[in-house]
Amino acid sequence: MTPVLAGIALLYLLAAVLFIVGLKQLSSPRGARRGNLIAIVGMVIAVAVTIPLLHPTAIGIVLIVLGVAIGAPIGVVGARAVKMTAMPQMVATFNGVGGGAAALVSTVELLRVTGTHAPAVSLGLPVVFSVVIGAVSFAGSGIAFAKLQELMRGTPITYRGQQLANGVLAAAIVVLAILLVVTANPGILLGLLLLSLALGVAFVLPIGGADMPVIISMLNAFTGLAVAGDGFVIQSPVLIVGGTLVGASGTLLTKLMSDAMGRSLANVLFGAFGQVVSGPAAAGAADARPVRAGTAEDIGTLLAYSQRVIIVPGYGLAVAQAQHAARELASLLEQRGVSVEYAIHPVAGRMPGHMNVLLAEANVPYEQLREMDEINDAFKTADVALVVGANDVVNPAARSSPGSPIFGMPILNADQAKTVVFMKRSMRPGFAGIDNELLYDPRTIMLFGDAKDSLVKLAAAVKAA
Ligand code: TAP
Repeated sequence: MTPVLAGIALLYLLAAVLFIVGLKQLSSPRGARRGNLIAIVGMVIAVAVTIPLLHPTAIGIVLIVLGVAIGAPIGVVGARAVKMTAMPQMVATFNGVGGGAAALVSTVELLRVTGTHAPAVSLGLPVVFSVVIGAVSFAGSGIAFAKLQELMRGTPITYRGQQLANGVLAAAIVVLAILLVVTANPGILLGLLLLSLALGVAFVLPIGGADMPVIISMLNAFTGLAVAGDGFVIQSPVLIVGGTLVGASGTLLTKLMSDAMGRSLANVLFGAFGQVVSGPAAAGAADARPVRAGTAEDIGTLLAYSQRVIIVPGYGLAVAQAQHAARELASLLEQRGVSVEYAIHPVAGRMPGHMNVLLAEANVPYEQLREMDEINDAFKTADVALVVGANDVVNPAARSSPGSPIFGMPILNADQAKTVVFMKRSMRPGFAGIDNELLYDPRTIMLFGDAKDSLVKLAAAVKAA
């Protein structure tokens, strides 16, 4: 090995180490920012080393620099402009583009070598792997984006014989993949690409909007694996390491999210969750049972004279951008000697860590953010569970109604608090589309309105108490 190649190998190793350290830092909100920066440094090193290695020609370097010059500003502006609630769509877009790029790299590489010699099986297998997985991820992420952005119906799109049709599509892909490895025929490659794109679409269509973050995480893992496959195709160790890290972490995240929803991955993939809303599930908007509604003044007084208040934030807090108002109310209560904590459900909101990010942005101290397992026993001793724009994550049907779609999902024990205050705009259900008995409980007080407005009114009431 020449000294230059040895130096390049060492720099790749350094980049890989930085990716791993960066990823590790992402496991806590405290280290997340630092972790991102470390991974960025790793990526810059990897790209800088790759440019002269893979493209020693001037035109190659110009093309790469041009690509970075166009892509980087789009990424930076897009990521800065996107609303927190639209982050899953953003991740879907980036992820899909990554999968598409991985498929293209392998396609181009196969077309390049077919002119010179028939590909050995060792090259053919990773090519097929990257083309299929990358194209599925690209098309699937596109559908996930369209559903979340409401460009198409978010509920599961199903038809009779759907799983059989998907199975036939998958079998056809396997046949074409074998033929491609054996023959390296560009026509078969094109067919494989098209069928894989079709499978990506067909696979995501029956999945409902509520499950989309899980699917995006899974497609993210697919993209990582496709990139790792590219690494074998073009002999790039850093792509193998980076891709495998994404593949492994995406797979773990997918499993953690399914577990946090109390559902198996198979149920997420094939259960068409959120499709049929009937019986009590549909009753949310139309249920005529009385509920107890309170005023901000009454509830402010209740909070001011409590000893322990647990705030349960949910998707509505994110929609209303109410994190600062929540922290201000909490500060006022603490000044009066009330103990305030935040109960964080792992799938509150619409993406992993959604509540942590929002509350950290409002400078809520990390010590007050309590994970579900840590805080659940404390609800028994809480005077008030203040549920701010959350619904499914406190729905007792998850414990008590075997027929419910969320049965088995671990929930926050808000119903065990002396009083439950629900802050939401209406009686409409949450994302799972099912009614919540807790809204009708005699210990529950509803405070209707936008979460931010209501929190500001509560703060004023606490001050006046
Ligand atoms: P949801 O159950 O969706 O409830 C949110 C509530 O917020 C709604 O009932 C809505 O009621 C209220 N709301 C909306 N805008 C509001 C506003 N401006 N002011 C006040 N309230 C507002 O949310 P959750 O409890 O956080 O549960 C999350 C759901 O997403 C779960 O079903 C979970 O499985 C699913 N999910 C999450 C993830 C991740 S990783 N977070 C992944 C997959 C699925 P109104 O319309 O009446 O206001």
